[in-house]
Amino acid sequence: MKDRIRSALLSATATAMLLSLGAALADEIKPETRRDLQVALQKEAYSVLKYRAFAENARKNGKVTLAALLEETAKFEEQHFFAEAKMYGLVGEDWNNLANAIVSEYNDYTDNYVKLAERAEENGDKQIATMYREIAADEEKHHKNFKAAISKALKPD
Ligand SMILES: [Fe+2]
Ligand SMILES: [Fe+2]
Repeated sequence: MKDRIRSALLSATATAMLLSLGAALADEIKPETRRDLQVALQKEAYSVLKYRAFAENARKNGKVTLAALLEETAKFEEQHFFAEAKMYGLVGEDWNNLANAIVSEYNDYTDNYVKLAERAEENGDKQIATMYREIAADEEKHHKNFKAAISKALKPD
């Protein structure tokens, strides 16, 4: 319980920091462009992993040339992601990036995956609900790892 309150407080602080950063960036990019950039970022990130998954399948089927084409294309999609991420201001100072990661993982395991699991269960998709709950447990670990890294990871090794 104490841990949960501390998590919530930390997340609230991190969210406030992110919002102030967002406000600074919002001055430079028009809101609609910023929303479009976020969509584009998500599409590129999805393409990278989708093409890698396609490549893995092609390689399994002995289609080495197709696998190489997919992997090569995934590298370009990755570059598109990084170019867009730079414009978006996705990557900031390390402390800010860590705060961002903590908030993301916290939201995933306390909210996003909980809702997804509940909805899948309501629809009778039990296997998918179980997968979401397993993923939520992973996200909780990621959240804890990131939180534990606050004091150590921000110093150079
Ligand atoms: Fe692309
Ligand atoms: Fe995660």
